[in-house]
Amino acid sequence: MSDKTYPPSAEFSANAHIDAARYKDMYAASINDPDAFWGEQGKRIDWIKPYTQVKDVNYDFGNVSINWYADGTLNVSANCIDRHLANRGDQTAIIWEPDDPNDAARHITYRELHENTCRMANVLRDLGVGKGDRVVLYLPMIPEAAYAMLACARIGAIHSIVFAGFSPDALGARINGSDAKVVITADEAPRGGRKTALKSNTDAALLHCDDRVKCLVVKRTGGQTTWTDRDYDCTALMSAAATECTPEEMNAEDPLFILYTSGSTGQPKGVVHTSGGYLVYAAMTQELVFDYHDGDVYWCTADVGWVTGHSYIVYGPLANGATTLMFEGVPTFPDASRFWQVCEKHKVNQFYTAPTALRALMGQGNSFVEKCDLSDLKVLGTVGEPINPEAWNWYNEVVGKGRCPIVDTWWQTETGGHLMTPLPGATATKPGSCTLPFFGVQPVILEPTTGAEITTTEAEGVLCIKDSWPGQMRTVYGDHERFEKTYFSDYKGYYFTGDGCRRDADGYYWITGRVDDVINVSGHRMGTAEVESALVAHAKVAEAAVVGYPHDIKGQGIYAYVTLMNGVEPTEELRKELEKWVRTEIGPIAKPDLIQWAPGLPKTRSGKIMRRILRKIAENDYGALGDTSTLAEPAVVDDLIENRMNRS
Ligand code: WT7
Repeated sequence: MSDKTYPPSAEFSANAHIDAARYKDMYAASINDPDAFWGEQGKRIDWIKPYTQVKDVNYDFGNVSINWYADGTLNVSANCIDRHLANRGDQTAIIWEPDDPNDAARHITYRELHENTCRMANVLRDLGVGKGDRVVLYLPMIPEAAYAMLACARIGAIHSIVFAGFSPDALGARINGSDAKVVITADEAPRGGRKTALKSNTDAALLHCDDRVKCLVVKRTGGQTTWTDRDYDCTALMSAAATECTPEEMNAEDPLFILYTSGSTGQPKGVVHTSGGYLVYAAMTQELVFDYHDGDVYWCTADVGWVTGHSYIVYGPLANGATTLMFEGVPTFPDASRFWQVCEKHKVNQFYTAPTALRALMGQGNSFVEKCDLSDLKVLGTVGEPINPEAWNWYNEVVGKGRCPIVDTWWQTETGGHLMTPLPGATATKPGSCTLPFFGVQPVILEPTTGAEITTTEAEGVLCIKDSWPGQMRTVYGDHERFEKTYFSDYKGYYFTGDGCRRDADGYYWITGRVDDVINVSGHRMGTAEVESALVAHAKVAEAAVVGYPHDIKGQGIYAYVTLMNGVEPTEELRKELEKWVRTEIGPIAKPDLIQWAPGLPKTRSGKIMRRILRKIAENDYGALGDTSTLAEPAVVDDLIENRMNRS
C-alpha cells in the first residue's frame, strides 16, 4: 500500500461486527444483488406491513424517481422508541449534557422518551397538525428537540429543522418555503455561556409569515419573552398532555423530514428524506461504521440542525436502541477540555466530531486532553470536510492513544448517511482518506468535461455515484425539476456529488473539495451566492463576489470582494457594518472573514465574473492566475492583487 496505513488491531477486528473478510464478501454481495442485500437489511427495522418490493430506481434525466421498500408501511418513531420498550425500557436512550457543566446532566430512559414524545405528539395534534403537515423546529440542543422530531414522525408530520444559529430572515424563508403550520422554538438557547434569543428571533421571522402559523415555545432558561396570540407554552401543554399517542401508519416513501442546504445558487434547497429507506440506512451505518455494541455510550457532537444530528444523534442510534449523548454546549466552554471531560464523565465509547473542532482544540495544547481519562473510547469519527493529516495524527495519538480506529466518514445532506468510510474492524486507514465505499455504494470518478468514467485504479476527477442506496434524498421540496437538474443532468445516469475526488493505487478515495460554488466553513456548507446576495442587498453595495480561501482552523474562510456604490467611501466602519449585515441576513456562520474593497471585479467581455482569478488572489497565489486573455479590463486584477487581504 502507498502512504502510511493504520490497520485495525487483531483484537479490535476479532470483536468487531465487520472484519476485512466480511467487508469484502458483503460488499460484493451488495453490488451483485442489491435487491437481495437490501431486502435482508430492511429487516433491521420493524414494519407494520412488510415490503415485497425493495429497490425501484430510475436515474434517467427527466424521469428521475427513487423508491425503496415502496409497498411497506412503518412508523419511524415506533421504531426508535416503542419497539425497545419491552427489553430496554429502563435503559438510557439519551444522555443530555447541558451547556454549563455545573448544571446536572440528564439521563432519559426509553420509557421516558416514549412518554415525552407522546406528550409532544399530542400537543401537536391538538394544534391541528396531522399527516403530511410541515413543522419547523428552531431549538437549542435540548431533549425537546429529539422529542419534537420523533413526535412529528409519530403523527406523520414532516419536520424541517432550522439551525439555531440562523437569523430571523433565514428562519422566515424556511417557514414560508415549507408552508409550515407550526414552529417549535424555545425562549433562549444557552451556548458557550451566552444566550441566543430564539423566541424573539422567531417573532421577527413570523412578521413575514402567514398569521395562521402557530408558535410552540419550550421553556429552557425561563428568560423573558413577549407573548402573542399565536404563541403556546409547550412545556405547560406537554405536562398536561396524555402519555400515549398511537403512531400513524406511514408508507416507506412518505417524507420524514426536509432539511435546507446550500447549493451553487442563491436559494438553499429543501432536501427531502423519506421514512423506510432512510431509517434502514441510518441504523445500519450507525451500527457498523462506529462498531456500536449493546451497552456502549455513543456521542456525536453535531447539532440537530444539520443532517449529522438527524442521522447520527437521533434516528440511527435510537433505531438501534443505543445510548446517544446530546450536548448543548461548545468544545471550548468553559475551556478547551470540555469535550474530553464529557467523554470521561459519561464514559463515552464512540466519539464523532468535525475536523474544525479538532484543529481548534489541537491549537490549545495537549494538556486539556491529557488531564482526562479517555480509556473508555473505542472508535473516533470525523465528518464534514477533509481532515488534514496533522489533525488526524493528533486525534489518533493524543485523543485515541493510538488504540482507537479513526473513521473519516464522507457523506452529504443529500445522502442521508455515510457513503464512503472505513469500517473500524475492517479497513486499514490512511490519514486524510475516507478510504472505501460502504455496502451498496458504487463511487465512480468521471472526467469533468467529457463525463467519461475513468476506469483505471488511479484516477482524479469529479465524484459521482452509480446507482442508488436507501438513504438517498428523493427530491427537492416542491421542485423536483431542480432536483433532477442539480444532481442528474451534468453527468447522465449518475448521482453527481459536487465533490472532486482522487483514487489512489490502492483504490482508496480522497475527497479534494467541492467543484461547484459551495464552500465549507467550519464544516458548515454555504453557497458563495448566498453570501453575495446578502451583500448586494445592502444599500451601499453595488456588486459582490465571494470565494473560499484556506483557513487554518475553519478549513475554508469567507473572502468577499465588494464594489461600493458610486461615491461611497470604503471605511473600517462600513466593513464592520457589512459584517454585521451578513450576520443578520443569514447568521453568524456566514460572516465574511475578509472583505476587500474592489473598485471593479474581473469580468469576461460578456460580463461573467472570473471567479478562478478571485480564488487565486484570495489564496495569495496570484503568481499563477492562468489565462487572463479574456478579461475585459486587465488593470482591475492588478489593483486586486495590490490590495489583497490574505498575505499568509
Ligand atoms: C459536503 C457535504 C455529511 C454531514 C456533514 C456535511 C464535505 C463531508 C467529508 C469528509 C471530505 C467531506 C464534502 C461534501 N464533506 N464529509 N469526511 N471528507 N469532505 O454535510 O453540509 O451536506 O456537506 O461536505 O464536500 O460534499 P453537508
